[in-house]
Amino acid sequence: APIAAPEFDKCSEARDVATGDLLDVNCCPPYSDTIIDYKLPRFNKLRVRPAAHKVTKEYLAKFEEAIRRMKALDKSDPTDPRGFMQQANIHCAYCNGAHDQVGHANLDIQVHNSWLFFPFHRWYLYFYERILGELIDDPTFVLPFWNWDNPKGMQMPKIFDNTNSPLYNTNRNQANRPPAIIDLGFSGATDDLQKVVNNLTVMYSEMVRSVNSTLDFMGQPYLDGDSPSPGMGSSERGSHIAAHVFVGDPRNKYSEDMGNFYSAGRDTIFYSHHANVDRMWSIWKTLKTDVPKEINNPDYLNASFLFYDEKKQLVRVKVADSLDHRKMGYEFEKVDIPWLNYKP
Ligand code: C2O
Repeated sequence: APIAAPEFDKCSEARDVATGDLLDVNCCPPYSDTIIDYKLPRFNKLRVRPAAHKVTKEYLAKFEEAIRRMKALDKSDPTDPRGFMQQANIHCAYCNGAHDQVGHANLDIQVHNSWLFFPFHRWYLYFYERILGELIDDPTFVLPFWNWDNPKGMQMPKIFDNTNSPLYNTNRNQANRPPAIIDLGFSGATDDLQKVVNNLTVMYSEMVRSVNSTLDFMGQPYLDGDSPSPGMGSSERGSHIAAHVFVGDPRNKYSEDMGNFYSAGRDTIFYSHHANVDRMWSIWKTLKTDVPKEINNPDYLNASFLFYDEKKQLVRVKVADSLDHRKMGYEFEKVDIPWLNYKP
């Protein structure tokens, strides 16, 4: 059977995944007993998520205002599930053991390290984006993606590094603020050009060369009653983790914010990082390689999650409805993909 959506009334304490230590946070969501099975709404036009390093002034002003309002909810109504901390806590609850598997109180739900990784995060961003749009009354609002797979995007996007912006976060590795170049392969390279070259090699490898099966990319099967974390796909293990490590603040015990599951969503850059992870899934599906791009197992397709939508309604979503981002109403700005032809 598929992993079932968690029961919010049974949500409990959160633990650090690596050490098992109890965390000093309550990341359980507000409770609601009305759950609606979510239907993707109709739309007229695909919304285009922009690359974060290329956004216009007008776009940035909107984005900042939306985040400002989301953060203001933390103060005006901390129980509003659309508030910034509540949104961050979603990640904690689904990743640090606060939610148990339905019918298996001794088994955590863990949305990383398995084939649930891409679909869970796609849905998470989907509602986060809709909530931001709702808060500024703009249903066309889109999240920007951190284009770390392109040399022009291989540093933290500058819009997140303006200390006067609501996008700024002090809990980041100060040594890695722009113009520091990300190291997607943990190569330890110190030369910028070498890092860029390594990054393109890493991208080609995790998207193409080292992917010999669908699950190599997507992650391992994770079913009802299974122990959490059966195994990561190449993208989750590679560029995805690298960006978390790059941004996380080594001055903090758990490298908060980006360096730990429970706190990663407290950094606004998290959602743009994951927008690019989401983009990698969509690009991978278009690659003309021999590896089948879909998982047809009903225990994958019927796995479900709960989220609050932009109207504070608790909804149940299925993996099956997340497979095509266009059906969800968005696509990505077209930018060069230099690693595609990068066969060193
Ligand atoms: Cu849910 Cu990048 O982690």
